[in-house]
Amino acid sequence: MPVPETIAQPGSGVETDTGPGRPQTAAEALRPHAEQAFAHELAALAAADDRPRPARWRLSPWAVATYLLGGTLPDGTVITPKYVGPRRIVEVAVTTLATDRALLLLGVPGTAKTWVSEHLAAAVSGDSTLLVQGTAGTPEEAIRYGWNYARLLAHGPSRDALVPSPVMRAMSRGTTARVEELTRIPADVQDTLITILSEKTLPVPELGEEVQAVPGFNLIATANDRDRGVNELSSALRRRFNTVVLPLPATPEDEVDIVARRVEQLGRSLQLPSPPDGVDEIRRVVTVFRELRDGVTADGRTRVKSPSGTLSTAEAISVVTGGLALAAHFGDGVLRPADIAAGILGAVVRDPAADRVVWQEYLETVVRERDGWKDFYRACREVSA
Ligand SMILES: Nc1ncnc2c1ncn2[C@@H]1O[C@H](COP(=O)(O)OP(=O)(O)OP(=O)(O)O)[C@@H](O)[C@H]1O
Ligand SMILES: [Mg+2]
Repeated sequence: MPVPETIAQPGSGVETDTGPGRPQTAAEALRPHAEQAFAHELAALAAADDRPRPARWRLSPWAVATYLLGGTLPDGTVITPKYVGPRRIVEVAVTTLATDRALLLLGVPGTAKTWVSEHLAAAVSGDSTLLVQGTAGTPEEAIRYGWNYARLLAHGPSRDALVPSPVMRAMSRGTTARVEELTRIPADVQDTLITILSEKTLPVPELGEEVQAVPGFNLIATANDRDRGVNELSSALRRRFNTVVLPLPATPEDEVDIVARRVEQLGRSLQLPSPPDGVDEIRRVVTVFRELRDGVTADGRTRVKSPSGTLSTAEAISVVTGGLALAAHFGDGVLRPADIAAGILGAVVRDPAADRVVWQEYLETVVRERDGWKDFYRACREVSA
C-alpha cells in the first residue's frame, strides 16, 4: 500500500510549511542536515561514480565510503573526511547496508555513532531525516504508525488518517531509516522491529493491509556501550543486525585532527573567528582528556585517577568550541589557556565531590610539573578556586 505523506519531511522535497518558524533555505538552518551541508560533495561523487549502485542508492558503496573517509576525485573535487578511523569499519558498515541485514553502530559515548549514521543515510539515500529518537518513552507508534485523530474520528480508519512513522516511510520509499539509542527503547517496543527487519513488512491490521518494504530500504541503529543493561537487545533482534563497533580515536594526533576539523566547522556555523594558533590548546584539551580517560599520563610514567563522567572526543569538541566563543567575545580572538580551563573543569567535574578530588590531584601532580603548562595551571587554579 502506498504510504500517505501527511507530514512534510525536511529534505524530502515535500516542503509545505515555509512560514516564519521555518528556515527558508538550508543555508539559513542553524544546523543543516548532512545532505544539505555536503550537497556539493555528494553531487560531485554521483557525477564521478561509475560503479554499480544497489537499487535506489544515490551512490555506489565505493562512493559512499569515499564520502565518509574523504579523498580527491578525478576532477579535483576534494571530499572532506567525515569519519576519522579505520577504513575497514566504514567498508563493513556500507556493505551491510547493501545486504538484507540492518546496521547497528555500537560504541562508548562520543565515538561518532550518530554522526556516521547521519552521513551514511545522506550518502546512500540522500535523506538523513527519517529518524526515530529512542528513549525510555518511545511508543510503538514511533516505529510503526500513528493516526491523525481528527481524520480517524471523522472518517474512520483509512489511509488518509494513517500517520506513517519514519521507518514506514523509508520502507515504502526504499531509503534508509535511522533509530537512535536503540537500547534505551523498552524491549517490547524494540521487538516491533523484528518483523520489519526479517519479513520486510509492516502490517496495518486496522486496514487489513500491509506496507511492504521496497528494495533500497534498510535501517541504521545506534546504541551506547554504557547503556548496556538499561534495555538489552533481545537476541532475536540482535540477529537481524550486523554490529559495527566504533572505537575511540587510536592516537592523540587522530583525536586532535578530529577536534580541529569539527571545531572549525562548528565555529563557522556559529560565526566565530577561526583562531590562528588554536591547535596548541586543542592538543592540550585532547591530552588532558586522554590521560584522564586512560588513567595514565601520555609518557606512561604517572598513574592518574579517572573521573566519573565520559571524556570523549565529543566533549573535547564542545570544550574547545566554548573556549573559542569566550576568546571571540571576551578576549582578543586567540584561544588561550584561560578560555579552555573553565570548560575542562566543567567536563571533568560531573560529580562535585569525587571528581573534584580527581581533578585536584591531576592538576597538582601532572599539570603543575609539565613544561609549558604554567599558564594553563594558573588558569585552572583560578577557576577551581
Ligand atoms: N572518529 C571520529 N571521526 C570524526 N568525528 C568524530 C569521531 N569521533 C568523534 N567525532 C565527533 O564527535 C562528535 C560527537 O559524535 P556523536 O554525537 O556522533 O557521538 P555518539 O557516538 O553518537 O555519542 P552518544 O553515545 O553520546 O550519542 C561529532 O561531532 C563527531 O564529528
Ligand atoms: Mg549519539
